[in-house]
Amino acid sequence: MKTDRSNILTCLRNSGDYVSGQQLCDRLGVSRTAVWKVINQLKEEGYQIESVSRKGYRLVESPEDVYTRSEILSRLHTKWAGQNLHFFEETGSTNPDAKRFAEEGEPHGTTVVAERQTAGRGRRGRSWVSPAGKSVYFTIVVRPKFDPDKASMITLVMALSVAEAIEEATGLAAGIKWPNDIVVNGKKVVGILTELSMTPEMNEIQFLVAGVGVNVNHDSAEEFPEEIRETATSLKIESGRPIARAVLLARILARFEENYEAFEQNLTLSGLKERYEAHLIGRDAGVRVLDPAGEYTGISRGINETGELIVERETGEIVLVYAGEVSVRGLYGYT
Ligand code: BTN
Repeated sequence: MKTDRSNILTCLRNSGDYVSGQQLCDRLGVSRTAVWKVINQLKEEGYQIESVSRKGYRLVESPEDVYTRSEILSRLHTKWAGQNLHFFEETGSTNPDAKRFAEEGEPHGTTVVAERQTAGRGRRGRSWVSPAGKSVYFTIVVRPKFDPDKASMITLVMALSVAEAIEEATGLAAGIKWPNDIVVNGKKVVGILTELSMTPEMNEIQFLVAGVGVNVNHDSAEEFPEEIRETATSLKIESGRPIARAVLLARILARFEENYEAFEQNLTLSGLKERYEAHLIGRDAGVRVLDPAGEYTGISRGINETGELIVERETGEIVLVYAGEVSVRGLYGYT
């Protein structure tokens, strides 16, 4: 649900010109006092809004990195992704929050965003350190109408969407380390944690949540926990300029909506494979597959239409590596 605040901000932003107080009242069905109150609030938060008598209000400039529910909604042009948006200044982890909202019946596309997480979760039981002010942490709920064996593809759909959004927002080249880490200049900028909830009979997906953490405005590697200092980076470190998190998040959600719908057409990655592979790091290069049943090396030959990594072993044998079971490393370094 959009608030008066985000509606007014959206109207001003979309118009790019003066919008009269009366127009705002008529379009949004709110009183003159409500408009006036919101405009003052926005000015206090650092939005530069010009008020000219007989002309109305014009949004001149937004502060650098406003990260609020209204700001995100005013940037969002999706049908369902993120339209039902919860924003928390602080929470434990957005993944369990999203699951709770999904269990309470909230719709496909419901999104939980946090400024800070006190118990951020990474993959393989690791934690995801989540201080305020510099990162994007969000989780989106999807309610797929397909078998659980297709669910792991959603993680790849998200990875592609985040990589594309980062490229649009920053001009950086974002690579994907299969299946779902996003890497810029050899270092990780994004982690994705997807979790599935099954019906009580365990035969159908009830919903799925995809949680995404993006390192955005860190000034230096010193700001990361020591264990990841060598392998992590931020978009600001790599591009040399700050990135507005609300803009980036809105782009990620837009890309995800579009790519998810392409995936839904035939429940394979056929429509996305080419773009995914264009981002895939280490294609046609050596990889080490860390399979619990035994490590092996081979050459990465891209993905198939269901998202498995195709690895050609020295013997010429082709192995399909399933996401989730194993991790894959390049022969040298993190990627
Ligand atoms: C990884 O280990 O690479 C996955 C990290 C996923 C982090 C995100 S931040 C938003 C969401 N909430 C969490 O607690 N984890 C995910």
